[in-house]
Amino acid sequence: MAHEINPWSNNQTIDVEKLFSEFGIEPITPALADLPHIPYFMRRGIVVGHRDYRQIASAIKNQTPFHILTGFMPSGHPHLGHLMVMKEVVWHVQQGGNGYVTIADREAHAVRGTSWEKCREFGKEYLACLYALGFEGTTYYQSRNERLKDLAFEAATKVNFSELSAIYGFSPETDLAHAESVITQVADILYPQVDRAPAPTLVPVGIDQDPHIRLTRGVAHKMRMFTVEEREGYVSVRSKNAPEAALAAVHKAFAGSKKYEGHVDIRGMACADVSRKVREIELAHGGFGFFTPSSTYHIFMPGLTGGKMSSSIPESIIGFFEPEATVKKKVMSGITGGRMTLEEQKRLGGEPDKCSLYLLNLFHMVTDDSELSRIRQKCMQGEITCGQCKKETAERVVVFLKDFREKMDTAADRIGA
Ligand code: TRP
Ligand code: SF4
Repeated sequence: MAHEINPWSNNQTIDVEKLFSEFGIEPITPALADLPHIPYFMRRGIVVGHRDYRQIASAIKNQTPFHILTGFMPSGHPHLGHLMVMKEVVWHVQQGGNGYVTIADREAHAVRGTSWEKCREFGKEYLACLYALGFEGTTYYQSRNERLKDLAFEAATKVNFSELSAIYGFSPETDLAHAESVITQVADILYPQVDRAPAPTLVPVGIDQDPHIRLTRGVAHKMRMFTVEEREGYVSVRSKNAPEAALAAVHKAFAGSKKYEGHVDIRGMACADVSRKVREIELAHGGFGFFTPSSTYHIFMPGLTGGKMSSSIPESIIGFFEPEATVKKKVMSGITGGRMTLEEQKRLGGEPDKCSLYLLNLFHMVTDDSELSRIRQKCMQGEITCGQCKKETAERVVVFLKDFREKMDTAADRIGA
């Protein structure tokens, strides 16, 4: 079923292999060859998959323009579960990307019923976290961005209800605002290319957001005036809905090209060069010239109670503003991959991959690879007890939060009203 991944459900039991085989998401590692250095979240198997990441890696390598955008639904306080995407955005900004963050208040209001006031309040907290991590770039609230809304309306001309029900399982009972929040997210993802200029755009998300990515990639393609395709011995530029003048301009731009009904064939030119020129012509004739957006997918950090980190289960999350004692207590009662008895633990070793605390370290608390692998070894060889290991982890979390809060305070003046 197409809507097996549902962005609004709490079920996170997603099989990574299936993503690759059924949804056409590709494993990340082969796409990283161009990167000058590989960030820890890609090395450690946190970011597992992608669509079209190669165009981003090569923009980083060649220092050509690219955008990096993600969004947060302000239906509750941000917590450690949101940190990964934030770090991915900040890292890509540091690699030269134009940063964009959208606060999805329309979605929170439509899907979760969050009041506009609360949306603003939570939105500010998300922005504080981002700035604390070193984010630079553009941020906006969906509800306050008029150009975004216009873009959403334009994008809506390319999507119908049967497509929404195929992708999301929408039924005749689904309210219109929910559908609008979907098309608003499509507009979010395309927005940097309208706000600045067309360029490859990366959207780092959790796996649950893939339906939005698929929809947006389709819409981006449909909003183009032309498709450019490499054929045997020539490049074919086909009009989808280009005005006649634009097609004529393509013909004129390439000496010796042949113009037919609805398409122009070009010999002796590289496809990439034709694409570039065609995009310029499209823009000059009022088109969008979109690059199809790229995405990366990270796995979710499990909550301390197993399952997902979710605000609806307070014990599962670590909030950025929780008192030290609460944080310690939560970590100390977190689900581990330890054995039933100490004797067994010593004999068999623990199972770090099943341990919420090991994963907390892997995701965020231990940045040094060799230290992490020491923890892993000690666990698997039964050389450390879970009690001791938890204590050390709790200590790391406390230190991390203290530092993070200081950084948030310093960044406070960067957040608007
Ligand atoms: N739907 C996303 C969420 O539930 C939030 C979001 C809105 C978003 N617009 C976006 C994510 C654009 C990535 C890109 O968290
Ligand atoms: Fe988890 Fe540490 Fe116990 Fe291993 S020793 S299972 S990493 S808490």
